[in-house]
Amino acid sequence: MSKDNNTRAIFATKFGAIATTVGSAVGLGNIWRFPYEAGVHGGGAFMICYIMFLFLLGVPVLCAEFCMGRSSRCNVFGAYNRLSDEKGWKITGLIGIIASLMILSFYSVVAGWTVEYCFTSLTGQLNFHDRTKGHSQFVELTTGDRPIIWTVIFLICNFVILNRGVTKGIERASNILMPILFLLLIAFCINSFTLPGCKDGIKFLFKPDFTKIEPSVLLGAMGQAFFSLSLGLGCMMTYASYFSKSTKLGNMALTIASLDLLVAVLAGIVIFPAVFSFGLSPEAGPTLVFEVLPFIFNQLPAGVIWATLFFLLLFMASLTSTVSMSEISITYLCEEKNMSRKKATIISSLIALIGGILCTLSFGSLSDFKICGLTIFNLFDYISSNIFLPIGGMICSIFVGWKMKKDLIMKEFTNDGSMKFYTLTLLIFFLKYLCPIAIFIIFLNSIGIL
Ligand code: PHE
Repeated sequence: MSKDNNTRAIFATKFGAIATTVGSAVGLGNIWRFPYEAGVHGGGAFMICYIMFLFLLGVPVLCAEFCMGRSSRCNVFGAYNRLSDEKGWKITGLIGIIASLMILSFYSVVAGWTVEYCFTSLTGQLNFHDRTKGHSQFVELTTGDRPIIWTVIFLICNFVILNRGVTKGIERASNILMPILFLLLIAFCINSFTLPGCKDGIKFLFKPDFTKIEPSVLLGAMGQAFFSLSLGLGCMMTYASYFSKSTKLGNMALTIASLDLLVAVLAGIVIFPAVFSFGLSPEAGPTLVFEVLPFIFNQLPAGVIWATLFFLLLFMASLTSTVSMSEISITYLCEEKNMSRKKATIISSLIALIGGILCTLSFGSLSDFKICGLTIFNLFDYISSNIFLPIGGMICSIFVGWKMKKDLIMKEFTNDGSMKFYTLTLLIFFLKYLCPIAIFIIFLNSIGIL
């Protein structure tokens, strides 16, 4: 990171910019959320919708966020404010800030589980030998009020990194840890091909049964595409405000989406063959990965070491994502409310702490407290991923497509005219019409209005 006009930091290297942005995108969304969503929504049918939404809606909206972020060089609220004279747009920024805090709350619970699994595996308490124990062990470790401690530990780590300034620690850490996580996933994938249920698992994930494509599958796949690319909140907008003038926005968007998809597919290849080999149900929901992984480690020599390493890396991948979520509210408080970074970090972390505790209690004292049939944990996930993210993405695409000055968009995608960007007309067409209309229709359809 270096300073631009002595005011705003920018990523110093191309690799640093990619690693940090991929760090935001790749996280629990790929390794925990993608397999369980795919499992619940019929495997192949979900996969095909997910890939379609990732590239047809996700990439254009990612381009739009990048464009707004780098041209305004400020937080999400300020970006709408600076790029338009009309007051109403900046409400989208506020929605993004609220949604980011909701995601941070439930995300920290799952990230807390990774810390707990890492710790229990390191101390030899995780049972890999009894295959029937996957579920009961998970329940034992994560239910009740005690796991609050792990959520809190995770949020403290998040706070420490944010307080030190994002890039020094986290940029360096993600440069090293993301490639290791990637290699580890590849090693586990190779192991998957030796499992007896490999064929069934791969078929489940890649062979679409088109009769299973229902509105809920479409909404789930769209929500997952937005969640996984960290879209719709202004997170990518905030990171793009740190991009250097020479970053090629179009290439960057495609690179991030492809790497993000690759990690999700690898995670699917790790999980589903094991699910079918050990006679588990792919529809287990949010607990899926944590119940299946111990079986996989059980297969491997020195399982304890693999397990500890895997949960450690998952914890790091979560941290690079939560840091990016927290940046949304912190940059807002610093730039719009003139707070010091320290104060802003404390406030945002305290809100996340309260939300995180409430979400953890969804598996303990508050497990019977339901709103519209959902626990607080599930409600936060549902509202933020399936409602706020798509709406935020839709408004961002309408804003760039219809409101932002064309020469400004041109300037961003051609880096001030120094390169060609042949697909600009297509991109603007997508942002003007396809993305907003598609998002809106899927949204209305899924809430039963269409
Ligand atoms: N994309 C992250 C993941 O896949 C989650 C995330 C969502 C991060 C929204 C930032 C903003 O884990």
